[in-house]
Amino acid sequence: MEEFNIHEITSIDASAILFIKETMASLECRPGLEDVECFLASDHPGIYIGELNGTPIGSVSFTKYCSTYYSFGLYLVEEIYRGKGYGMQIFNTAIKEIDSSQNISAYAVPSIAKKYEIHGFRTQWLCSNYDINLTKALEFLKAIPSNQNGLTAKSTTEIDQEALLSYDTAVFGYQRNSFLMKWLHAKGSHVKVVVNSERTIVGYAAARVAYLQHEGYRLGPLFADSDEAAKVLLKALFEEILCNGISTSHSVTIFCLKRNSNSMELMEQLHGKHTFDLAYITTKGVPNGCFDKWFGITSPEIG
Ligand SMILES: CC(C)(COP(=O)(O)OP(=O)(O)OC[C@H]1O[C@@H](n2cnc3c(N)ncnc32)[C@H](O)[C@@H]1OP(=O)(O)O)[C@@H](O)C(=O)NCCC(=O)NCCS
Repeated sequence: MEEFNIHEITSIDASAILFIKETMASLECRPGLEDVECFLASDHPGIYIGELNGTPIGSVSFTKYCSTYYSFGLYLVEEIYRGKGYGMQIFNTAIKEIDSSQNISAYAVPSIAKKYEIHGFRTQWLCSNYDINLTKALEFLKAIPSNQNGLTAKSTTEIDQEALLSYDTAVFGYQRNSFLMKWLHAKGSHVKVVVNSERTIVGYAAARVAYLQHEGYRLGPLFADSDEAAKVLLKALFEEILCNGISTSHSVTIFCLKRNSNSMELMEQLHGKHTFDLAYITTKGVPNGCFDKWFGITSPEIG
């Protein structure tokens, strides 16, 4: 007899974690090597798994950032089990555990975003995925004079951690320290922070190697107060990846908000190849966040 069980997972659920990574990789989402472990380090990750006769076949997450804001993601069902109602069952079980009268955001495939309208989701803007070639991008970035306007790239060890966490909270819009401490120090991650002449943080960027390491890297977030700060960050980050990165590929993917014209322009200058778009959808309008400083989002799965 078929037994379908849905439950919330923690960082000890190895088979569920593996299922999510493998399914994302099979969908060519290029998950980072330790992305799921990082999501699970959030204060309230809300990741649910559906198990058919004890084997994971589907997942969903409703990450709680505060009592008024959640991010929905990781909505996956293994291909052979799709269209049989399992996805809907997992979604309905998980959403009952949150206060769904509050704002929920997600990045959705535009064709599927339409279906989510029954839950109150509306599209706010589009988010474009770009594939950047490290070597090509560095040719452009190296031509920019160094020490632009007193901006200097630093590694995280040279920076006050509290100041970096505060910068992220201000730009992201919500405190996510537990998640971020894991994200910045995950295996295969590279992080650079940019400071101005007063040593104030004016941006940071984090890239991580893909779960399928030959695929290259995922970049996010790329938060910066200015276009110059974003370029200083990327130059330092890409140089470090070329020297110390563990992937044989020079491909880096990033998701940029279409509404941020500086970010779009930067992708053009870096010869980024536009691959596809996701719709940024929310149920109660636009959440907090300094979106003009979002040159690249953290990850569609977590906001
Ligand atoms: C999206 C996905 C998780 C749905 O799982 P599933 O088990 O196939 O879904 P169900 O069988 O429960 O759904 C039945 C129907 O309801 C729709 N549906 C499923 N979940 C839904 C939800 N939460 N809200 C509204 N509609 C939903 C399905 O699209 C399907 O519609 P259709 O009959 O017109 O095709 C699955 O198709 C999948 O893994 N797709 C690939 C990954 C992906 O695109 N994820 C979503 C990113 S936005």
